[in-house]
Amino acid sequence: MWCTRYAHFCKETLRTCRTASSVANVNKNINELVLLGQKYVTDDWTNITPNVISKLGRNLHVKQYHPLWLLRQRIVDYFYKQFPGKSGTPAFSIHDNICPVVTTSQNFDSLLVPKDHPSRRKSDCYFVNQDTLLRAHATAHQAELISMGLNNFLVIGDVYRRDEVDSTHYPVFHQVDAVRLCTLQEIFHDVNDPAGLKLFEHSGTETADKQGCHTLEAVKMMEQELKSTLIGLAQTVFGKDVQCRWVDQYFPFTHPSWELEILFNDKWLEIVGCGVMRQEILQKSGAVDRIGWAFGLGLERLAMRLYSIPNIRLFWSEDISFLNQFKVDDHNAHIQYKPISIYPPCTNDISFWLPEDGSYFPNDFYDLVREIGGDMVDQIILKDEYVHPQTKRMSHCYSIVYRHMERTLTQREVGEVHRKVARVTDAKLNVTVRIQK
Ligand code: DAH
Repeated sequence: MWCTRYAHFCKETLRTCRTASSVANVNKNINELVLLGQKYVTDDWTNITPNVISKLGRNLHVKQYHPLWLLRQRIVDYFYKQFPGKSGTPAFSIHDNICPVVTTSQNFDSLLVPKDHPSRRKSDCYFVNQDTLLRAHATAHQAELISMGLNNFLVIGDVYRRDEVDSTHYPVFHQVDAVRLCTLQEIFHDVNDPAGLKLFEHSGTETADKQGCHTLEAVKMMEQELKSTLIGLAQTVFGKDVQCRWVDQYFPFTHPSWELEILFNDKWLEIVGCGVMRQEILQKSGAVDRIGWAFGLGLERLAMRLYSIPNIRLFWSEDISFLNQFKVDDHNAHIQYKPISIYPPCTNDISFWLPEDGSYFPNDFYDLVREIGGDMVDQIILKDEYVHPQTKRMSHCYSIVYRHMERTLTQREVGEVHRKVARVTDAKLNVTVRIQK
């Protein structure tokens, strides 16, 4: 599916957008649409839907502790370690807040996607108007970033495609797209006698192994670095023993091109598309003395396997029972998602003064609540710690999320349990309950 989509890029400067609340509205009379604070004219290409518009600005990939954020941190870490820069700063720069509203030139033309390529169809993309769409891949920014003089970068962001509806497809998902450009000296720095080695040849022809303008030795060096980088990434995410295989592929913007597949639960799963960048893209962007490799991967696809998340819709959940499962100090922590109840939560707070003799331990409270509430208790969250300015006594405030796995709880029955929690806490834990609500 990846191989039949895509293309690319523009002259506009990069607009960034970090604002969480997506400002979107349609003014029916003057055929205009406001997306992320920017006005766009609509036309008969406009097919962007309110549901998709509502996802603009959510930026899950920059939301701390979100599973997509955890995974992206792992990937970024890997690149920082793998490619240390000269002055100790990482060689790769990260671009995770580029506006997802792009031109057809960015998304397709700059990436040499043919005019009749299926990925350009109205049925495949969310168009704002004939010349503007929500990016269908993070690759849309390659050419402009290269034009800005960058040689090593990762673009991380939300991408939008009209696609089937099932547990693994959603109209919005997130990608990491990478570019690495090298000069002749950089590629052959390990070679003892580099005299005679070249990046380019003039009257070469394109073969399955290389583009006409590249030398075979330069392409093989790039291929080797690209493939070992991606195998290393797969091992970093899925463990040293992950089984990998390479499959030849076609993309309009790379040649040769491959897909990396990993064996997951006895099935081969494609995880990344990659290749040696079309030299024409580099030339048009001013990087005439370099050769490049690039790849793109989908974060949800990996995160679903890594954390055992069964449905792609869950990434959009704002339910604390989902999000809290990923609140870890170390983004490399092993996490296996546990299904949450489909029934609504009922949250009640309790706060109490702690004893001054240090005899209070939160785990005692957690056990006590579990004892009383049983499986009605979904979570207990320490919401607030407060020290009284005069007495110096400390108070803890907890939210208890009551939620049953099999039925909807009423506030009445939850209230009864919660009052009992307060009574027993006060009596048994040597604390003084202040408020319960
Ligand atoms: N943009 C492609 C996709 O969305 C993936 C891809 C393939 C990205 C090759 C690249 C690349 O940067 O070089 O499926």
